[in-house]
This record gives sequence, C-alpha cells and structure tokens, in this order.
Amino acid sequence: MNDTSYKIGMLGTGRMAINLSRLWAAKGHRIFIGSRDPQKAKTVAANVEGAVQGGSYRETAAFADVLALAIPWTAVTATLPNLGLLDGKILIDMTNPVEQTAVGMQLAIGHTTSFAEEIAQLTPGARVVKAYNSIYFDVLTDPQFGDQNASAFICGDDVTAKEVVAQLSQDIGFDPVDSGPLSNARLLEPLAVLWMQLAFSSHGTDIALKLLKR
Ligand SMILES: NC(=O)c1ccc[n+]([C@@H]2O[C@H](COP(=O)([O-])OP(=O)(O)OC[C@H]3O[C@@H](n4cnc5c(N)ncnc54)[C@H](OP(=O)(O)O)[C@@H]3O)[C@@H](O)[C@H]2O)c1
Repeated sequence: MNDTSYKIGMLGTGRMAINLSRLWAAKGHRIFIGSRDPQKAKTVAANVEGAVQGGSYRETAAFADVLALAIPWTAVTATLPNLGLLDGKILIDMTNPVEQTAVGMQLAIGHTTSFAEEIAQLTPGARVVKAYNSIYFDVLTDPQFGDQNASAFICGDDVTAKEVVAQLSQDIGFDPVDSGPLSNARLLEPLAVLWMQLAFSSHGTDIALKLLKR
C-alpha cells in the first residue's frame, strides 16, 4: 500500500458506499460517511470497522479531500448544491445515468454528453474523476479473477486527481487504467450499460472488465 492516507468522504450509505468505506478504511484511509439522515450515517459508520465517522452530506464534504458520489444519478443534481464549496476536492463520480426503455437499459442522457461532465459543470472548483461505474459492488471486495485483477477505468481532466484515484484503486486490488479526459466518460458510461446488460442477462454479476496488456 502507498503510505499516503486520504480523508475520504462517502456520499451515500448503500452497497457501493459501505464496501468502499470498509475497503479504504482497512487500508488506513480516514472515512466519513454521509447520509440524508445524519443519524443513519453515524449508525452505518459505527458498523464499518476502521477510523470512520458519520454525519450529513455537508459535513462529509467539509471533511473530505476525496469525495465519492455513491448515490443514484437521479439524486445528484439536487444533492450537489447541499455540499458547500468543493474547490480543489477530488469528486469521484461512480454513477450510471441509465433508464429502462422498451429496448432494455439505455443511457438516459444520450451519447453526446456524459453525466460526469454535467457534474463537473455543476461543481466548477471540484476535480471530477469518473471511476468504478462498471464494477459490481460485490466485485469491489474480490477483484481477482484467477491471476488477473479487474481493471478500474478512470477518466478525468486533472492528472493528479486521476493519480490519487488510481492509487486508491490499487489499494483495494484493482488494476487502474487511465482512460483519458473527463469527456471519455461518454465512453465509460455506455460501457457500463453493456456491462450491466451482460451481468443481468446471461453472465451473472460475478464478472468484471479487464484491459489485457502484453
Ligand atoms: N450497485 C452496484 O453494483 C453499482 C456498480 C457501479 C456503479 N453504481 C452506482 O453507484 C451509485 C450507488 O449505487 P448503490 O448500488 O450503492 O446504491 P444503493 O445501495 O441504492 O444506495 C444509494 C444511497 O444513496 C442515497 N440516496 C438514495 N436516494 C437519494 C436521494 N434522493 N438523494 C440523496 N441521496 C440518496 C442513500 O443513502 P441515504 O439514504 O443514507 O441518504 C442510499 O443508501 C449509483 O449511482 C449506482 O448507479 C452501483
């Protein structure tokens, strides 16, 4: 593990939030879990081993150097203005802007933009990084498939922020893949739709994406 310990704010108390909080706390990062209901966050945090606190979304954002958006995409636009100033903070967007249509799961915002870019427009001072949006919450805790580790595709416009998220990914056993600028979220978001279609049709959820190299 890298010696650098980050102050990570987890927005949400669901499946991704709890698994990532546990994993990062176990690697020595300081975790603050946020909920719409601060009391719920405190209860959740008390059950996550490690140096973990809980509170409101605003308290979570104030604590964090790295904030992870682990809430439904439909809740993001209403939640961001409640976080206070995010200047300089790394904001990890793991959301998937999807909806069910007559032809199955599709991107709700189309292919000519991405939700990560929309988040960046709403949080001008934050360093937005798209990551983890095509990793199943259960796979977070077990990223090894045979002798291969699953990839964590990461895109963003701030090189240092991407390096931090790459390190955080490595800390929990993923092979980080720098996937270019934030506009490449236009590629990572539809990739996640394919991943979900494969997971929820024929292959099951114990799958992961991997960039093979030689
Ligand atoms: N599940 C996966 O395998 C997976 C994989 C890749 C990406 N993702 C993405 O990761 C995000 C979290 O997924 P999840 O499966 O962890 O979700 P989840 O288990 O349903 O939890 C989502 C959390 O978001 C908060 N929330 C719900 N509605 C909200 C609202 N209207 N406003 C503000 N906060 C709200 C809730 O926390 P409080 O009630 O405590 O506020 C809830 O615990 C989603 O965007 C999802 O698309 C999920």
